[in-house]
Amino acid sequence: MSAATLLGRTSASTEVPPIIHLDNVSRVYDTGRIQVPALQNVNLRVEDGEFLAIIGPSGSGKSTMMNILGCLDRPTSGRYILDGQPVDELDNDGLAYVRSRSIGFVFQSYNLLPRTSALENVATPLMYQGVPHKERLARARAALERLGLGDRLNHEPSELSGGQQQRVGIARALVTEPALILADEPTGNLDSHSGSEVLGLFSDLHALGRTIVLITHDSDVAAAADRIVHLRDGELQEGAAA
Ligand SMILES: Nc1ncnc2c1ncn2[C@@H]1O[C@H](COP(=O)(O)OP(=O)(O)OP(=O)(O)O)[C@@H](O)[C@H]1O
Ligand SMILES: [Mg+2]
Repeated sequence: MSAATLLGRTSASTEVPPIIHLDNVSRVYDTGRIQVPALQNVNLRVEDGEFLAIIGPSGSGKSTMMNILGCLDRPTSGRYILDGQPVDELDNDGLAYVRSRSIGFVFQSYNLLPRTSALENVATPLMYQGVPHKERLARARAALERLGLGDRLNHEPSELSGGQQQRVGIARALVTEPALILADEPTGNLDSHSGSEVLGLFSDLHALGRTIVLITHDSDVAAAADRIVHLRDGELQEGAAA
């Protein structure tokens, strides 16, 4: 499949505000007995059209970062501005709204609805945006066709390979045209061939101007991105692997 068959957003520009702006963000878990500083004074800007990998070992704060970036959790201190929207000013309903409008999630374990066709899986996020049923199905079909799954529309997840399930997951992330694609170990359950294919899809999407943040512990996976930042003990460092 050629990159031109995938949908793109407008390309990167230095004049538009960043998609992600973390301003001195910290997240401290309070267990009652102790306080665990999982993220400490993190500053990060991700511009429209960037493909960024966040890499870090176990316990470095990746899941905490994913939850903050994905509007599933709030910073203890500092500010998060997503696509121009200050997230800290939102209540839970507001967070859920921003999440469904602005972010397409891709998960390690695909998180597809079982016993549900690929088409219905991809159409589901549009339901939360009030898109009529017929248009939902048309857009889901188009997204799956772009990802080379036009002949698997009515297959259920259990009838698809891991790589195909992850492509359904990526189609579902794209169908709402989000500002940001947030991928958490998207190749973690795939063999190396399917994993490379999925990373190639992200590269294609990046070439078309999509903004992608990929979180991983694997430096080979992170190498697919055009910029890498490192998490160590909750602190973010720009640049090459140590
Ligand atoms: N709910 C919690 N309560 C207390 N401490 C927590 C909680 N969640 C995470 N932590 C601590 O915060 C730090 C960062 O954890 P986090 O889960 O973000 O790491 P991670 O990089 O995702 O690790 P892994 O690669 O093992 O998934 C760790 O020291 C962890 O023990
Ligand atoms: Mg984790």
